[in-house]
Amino acid sequence: MLHLVLESRLREAVGNVIPDADLPAIRVRPCPDPRFGDYQTNALMGLAKARRLNPRQLAAEVIARLDVRAWCDSVEVAGAGFLNFRVSPSALATVLREVLAEGRPLVPRADPIRTVVLDFSSPNVAKPMHVGHIRSTILGDCLARTLRLLGHRVITDNHIGDWGTQFGMLLVGWKRILDRDALAADPLRELERIYREINARCDPEKEGFDPALLESARAELVKLQAGDSENLEIWREMQRLSQAQFDAIYTRLGVRFDHTLGESFYNPRLPAVVEDLRARGIARESEGAIVVFFDDHPELKDAPTIVQKRDGGFNYATTDLATLAYRVETWQPQEIIYVTDGRQQLHFKQVFEAFRRWKPDVAVTLAHVWFGSILGEDNKPLKTRAGDTVKLADLLDEAEERALQVVTEKNPDLSEAERREIARIVGIGAVKYQDLLPNRQSDYVFSWSKMLALSGNTAPYLQYAYARIRSIFRKQAEQDPENRWEPSGAVAFELTTPEELRLAKHLLNFGIVVEMVADEYRPNYLCNYLFELAGHFTGFYEACPVLKAEGRQRASRLALCEITARVLQQGLNLLGIETAERM
Ligand code: ARG
Repeated sequence: MLHLVLESRLREAVGNVIPDADLPAIRVRPCPDPRFGDYQTNALMGLAKARRLNPRQLAAEVIARLDVRAWCDSVEVAGAGFLNFRVSPSALATVLREVLAEGRPLVPRADPIRTVVLDFSSPNVAKPMHVGHIRSTILGDCLARTLRLLGHRVITDNHIGDWGTQFGMLLVGWKRILDRDALAADPLRELERIYREINARCDPEKEGFDPALLESARAELVKLQAGDSENLEIWREMQRLSQAQFDAIYTRLGVRFDHTLGESFYNPRLPAVVEDLRARGIARESEGAIVVFFDDHPELKDAPTIVQKRDGGFNYATTDLATLAYRVETWQPQEIIYVTDGRQQLHFKQVFEAFRRWKPDVAVTLAHVWFGSILGEDNKPLKTRAGDTVKLADLLDEAEERALQVVTEKNPDLSEAERREIARIVGIGAVKYQDLLPNRQSDYVFSWSKMLALSGNTAPYLQYAYARIRSIFRKQAEQDPENRWEPSGAVAFELTTPEELRLAKHLLNFGIVVEMVADEYRPNYLCNYLFELAGHFTGFYEACPVLKAEGRQRASRLALCEITARVLQQGLNLLGIETAERM
C-alpha cells in the first residue's frame, strides 16, 4: 500500500518539524486530479492554521525533511499548502510484483480490530419481504463483507419483527377467516390477506369498522402475551412460515446472519428495562404511561419516548433498548450499526439518546445508517401495476428472467443451463448494484433497462469486464498450452504507456476505497471505483496489445490483466455480487 508508506514517512517528517502534531490525523489520499499528482495530503494546512504558521512555508520545511525518493519522482507544494506526490513507475512495479507473486493483499488489515454488530434486513413476520427491505439487506450485507475483509470482528443480527400488536389481528384472522388451501399454496400471501382484512375492520377511520373485532384482537394479543398455549402455537407456526420465506430470499441473495434474535427474544426483558429506567430517573410516569423525556436536548426536547403504554404494553423503542443492552453485554462491541430506511431516524435518535442516559459508562459507537426510497418510473414509491407493494421474490424472478434475454442474445450458443446460471448471476447482481450505486440517502428510480444495460455504470458491465479478462487467459492457454501463464511467476512489470500507468495506479487505490466504504458506510464509493477501473482497463486494452505483445512486455501486461480481474472480482464480491467466467 504505497499511500501508507508515504503516510508514515510524512508523519515522521511532520513530527520533526512540529513535535506536538497529531500525527495519526495526517492522511495521504489519492489526488483528485491526476494532473497534479497521484497522492495528496491537505493535513499541513490545518496544522499551520492552528499554529498561525504560513502553510506553504511549513510545507517547504516538511519537504526538506521528507525522504520518499524510493517511491516518488516528485513531491510538490501546491495551492494553499497541499503536498502532491507523484509516484515512480518503478515503485508501482515493485508493489504490483509483490501483490502478484506473494499474494500481498491490496487491502490493509485494520488496526485496531473492532467488534461491530450489524443489525440489518430485519423484516416483519407474517408480512412478505418487500422492496423496502431489499435496501437494508443489500446495504447491510455489503457493510458486513467490507468490515470483515478489513479484519474486523463482525456479528450480523437479523432483528426480525416477530412480536407486537399485529399479532392480535393475525390471531383473530387465523381463527376466523383462514383459508387452509391458500395457506398451503402461498403462506405469506394468505397471512398478509388475513392481516389486511382484519386490520381494515379494526380501523375506526374506515368504513367497515367493527369495534367488537378490535376488542377481540386486543384480547387475543393479551392472551398471547400471557403465554396462552393455543395462541403461542399459532404464533410459532406463523413464525416458521415466515422464516422459511426469508431464508429462501437470503439464499438467493447470498446473505447470511450469525444470529436471528427477533423482537420476541427480548420480550421477557422489557419489564426490567422499564423498571431500571425508572429507578435511575431516566423515565417517569406521565398520564399513566412511562416516558423518557429529553427536556434539555436541543433536538429531542419535544419528542419524548413512551417506553410503557398506559395499558402496560411496551413499545418498539423499549425493545430496542433491551436489544442494545443485550448486545453490549453479550458481545462487547465497539460499534453497533443499524441499517433501516430514513423514516426511522427519529426513532434511533431517541433510542441512542435514552441509552446514553441509561448507561453512560458504555463506550459504544451507535450508528444509524439510513437510506431513501426506491421509486417507480413515475417518481412515486415503487408499486406493482395493481398498486401493491412489490414483493422481493417476484422482483428477483423478474430480474433473472430479463437477464436471461440479455444473456441469450449475447451467447446464443451456450446451453440453457449455462445461460440460466449466468442470468442468475447477472440478474441478482444488477438489482444489487442499482441499489448500492446511488448515494444511499437519496431516493432512486428503479429501472430494468438501466440496471441490465451492458454499458454504463452497471453490474453487467463490470461482470462483463471481468469475463472479458478471463477470456484473454483462456485464449492464451489455447494458443500456447505448454506455457500457460500462471500468476505465481516473479513478473517484472514494465509500465511504460500512460494507459498502463493509469491502470496500475488505480489498482493500488483499491484498499483506500474499501476503507472509505467502511468509514462512511457508503458502498457507492466502491461502485464508482470499480466503474473507473473497468474504464481504465478498457483504455489499456485498446492501447496496449496483450497477447500480441512479446516477452517481458507480454508477461507484464498479462499480469496487469490478472490483478485487474482479481480486484474486479473482489470488489464485486464486497458488493455481494458474483462473477461468471464467461458472459
Ligand atoms: N422490523 C423493522 C422494520 O421492518 C426494522 C428493525 C430495525 N432494527 C431495529 N433494531 N429496530 O421496519
